[in-house]
Amino acid sequence: MIKRNPEFIWNAWHVAALSHEIDADILFTRRLLDVPVLIYRKQSTGEAVALHDRCPHRFAYLSKGVRKGDQIECIYHGLRFGTEGQCTHSPYQETPPTNATVQPFPLVEKHKMLWIWMGDAELADPTTIPDHSHMDRDDLRPLLWHYHFNGNWQLGNDNLMELTHLFFLHTSTIGGWKDEPGKVPGEQYTVRKDDSGRVISRTFVPNVAEHGTFDNGVPRGTPFDQWNDTIWHAPANMRFTMGAVPTGQPTESCAQPYMEQSHCITPETATTSHYFSGFTRTFELDRDAAGDQQFIDFFSGIFAREDGPIMEDIETQMDGHDLLAQNPVVLPRDKGAIMVRRIVAQRLAAESALQAEAAE
Ligand code: FES
Ligand SMILES: [Fe+2]
Repeated sequence: MIKRNPEFIWNAWHVAALSHEIDADILFTRRLLDVPVLIYRKQSTGEAVALHDRCPHRFAYLSKGVRKGDQIECIYHGLRFGTEGQCTHSPYQETPPTNATVQPFPLVEKHKMLWIWMGDAELADPTTIPDHSHMDRDDLRPLLWHYHFNGNWQLGNDNLMELTHLFFLHTSTIGGWKDEPGKVPGEQYTVRKDDSGRVISRTFVPNVAEHGTFDNGVPRGTPFDQWNDTIWHAPANMRFTMGAVPTGQPTESCAQPYMEQSHCITPETATTSHYFSGFTRTFELDRDAAGDQQFIDFFSGIFAREDGPIMEDIETQMDGHDLLAQNPVVLPRDKGAIMVRRIVAQRLAAESALQAEAAE
């Protein structure tokens, strides 16, 4: 039985890996929710599976073992396990010990990511996987990468659910197009929670004169209205949609947003996190692989140099305490981030109560 750290939401889909990280032949291991997880593809079908990366005999990492077809043989004493975690072979007995089982985790490959459910398996419903279907649009050249930061996973929500920091932290990269955030005449920020518990926000900035880093589809020199829609899905999966139209035209006239981004955070431990990020675009589609890699380096570099160090500082300053319990100053644009913090707090409390009930 895996001990559940109450700082994580267990009954939810988390991104475990990107599809391209799991090659056909490798035994891939990653710590998720403070549990070592083995991920590999069945040789028979290519389907990816996930198991607790711990042999039930003496606790060797199964990822250090050897593949035997779709099965894994432990490197230490040779017990063999199937994709459902059952022991299929013991070199020492006619019948493998029935209590030699490894916990399997539901794993679904969708939108070029592998989604894992580490809580109660019977609650895992693949239809509730967050929608990142823009990543299926190969004509929009989806690019995805994995990053890692030294901070609690909720800092990722805090950071991505308010975008005012673009105009201070990211002025040299993606935030240089607006001088006075929040003060553009007519600028609007709205946020709401929908029936399925998602938080949806829109930042609308009218009549922008200066074009940003990327071609937003409006001819240079033409003032435009720009918006960024964010959909947050528990625990920490966010989809950004960025669009622009010539000033005054209805936003619906934008046939295709110029950029859509995925930002999915999965706890590694209580103080470190995996950050799966990526985007699709309508601009510079003629780049070759090296050019696309420059995009990845650009965006991951922003996080590495600008957001990541701030996450680390905040983690140190908070020292494991809850943000809301420390009475932070709340600014108008923090509304979405605070809404998310509250929903997460409710989810964590509900799971702790269920765990306590189950333990009685
Ligand atoms: S530790 Fe795996 S078989 Fe002994
Ligand atoms: Fe940022």
